[in-house]
Amino acid sequence: MRNFLIKFCLKILRFFPPEVSGKISLEFIRFFPYLITKKKITIKESNSFYKKPIIYGNLKFKNYLGLGAGLDKEGKYFASLGSLGIGFVEVGTFTPVAQPGNDRPRIKRINKEKSLINRLGFNNPGILQAVRNIRSNKKSFKGILGVSIGKNKNTKLEEAHKDYVFCLEKCFEISDYIAINISSPNTEDLRRLSSEEYLENLLVEINNCYESLEKKHQKKVPLLLKLSPDESDKNLEKIIKVSCEKKISGFILSNTTEGTYEGLNGGISGPLLKDKSLSLLKKVNYLINDDLLLIASGGITTKRDLEERLDNGAKLIQIYTSFIYQGPKILDDLLN
Ligand SMILES: Cc1cc2nc3c(=O)[nH]c(=O)nc-3n(C[C@H](O)[C@H](O)[C@H](O)COP(=O)(O)O)c2cc1C
Repeated sequence: MRNFLIKFCLKILRFFPPEVSGKISLEFIRFFPYLITKKKITIKESNSFYKKPIIYGNLKFKNYLGLGAGLDKEGKYFASLGSLGIGFVEVGTFTPVAQPGNDRPRIKRINKEKSLINRLGFNNPGILQAVRNIRSNKKSFKGILGVSIGKNKNTKLEEAHKDYVFCLEKCFEISDYIAINISSPNTEDLRRLSSEEYLENLLVEINNCYESLEKKHQKKVPLLLKLSPDESDKNLEKIIKVSCEKKISGFILSNTTEGTYEGLNGGISGPLLKDKSLSLLKKVNYLINDDLLLIASGGITTKRDLEERLDNGAKLIQIYTSFIYQGPKILDDLLN
């Protein structure tokens, strides 16, 4: 009955523009979590591998499955999303100052391939409000919380490090890990931050700030770099080298791939992204040491996709688009 109702609601929601249906779903999960979570995800005893917690440094993920950044862009919904049984949620991306994002329409469903294209452009309430939201919801959250940070649209690339440092300072205390997003295709030139010209300086500034925060709060917070699947092999090697010299603990692979659909230019996610994300994971896994944490993201829809990522070095898995198309049922499918 519950699954039937969820399926029915998902069908109705498809009549609304994607951004509106997304908001309705999040509010619904927030106010009526018991309707969704009545049947908690229980991992079958025979599936002991998936039941095993994943330990990384001080962090204990109750399972390997998480929700990617961009679903909870306000820091208001992660606790209700967490109650669905997943191991972790990444909120954001947040910027120093609140911003509305790009003009609408800015998300389209690519129904045939169960994929999405978006050009949201970091619509968010700003890091200060986000941290207030997170604080008031964190007590009821049992999982691991990742906070994704970025730069404001109007910040020049030469000044971008200041935005990341500002956000890092504000969210350090409340984060379990922090994702440095330099790979969204929807903020003009953001991806240039991964070039030789900017990356080293950005990571030096982040590193310096991190060291003083670590001392002040007596706490370690892994810093993960979220990469683009459109990165060239040559630059990828440079990124890995510089990151390993600094305080980067791992990588999220990957963000959306740049593309165009029905006149909308933005980031494509879901099955259409799968091959590129997997290929990036394989390359990075080949280049790094075992102690770095790899989180796979991009087109993970089936148990087979997920196992392929785990076989290629990923320790944790994030989903986004498959959750939008299938609702909470996907979590059950991927954990059992
Ligand atoms: C509508 C939408 C908004 C997103 N916003 C963000 C974001 O703010 N920050 C970020 O790092 N990734 C963002 N992403 C990327 C996802 O976190 C994820 O990495 C990507 O969609 C690939 O996973 P998927 O194929 O499972 O969707 C967004 C994706 C979508 C579809």
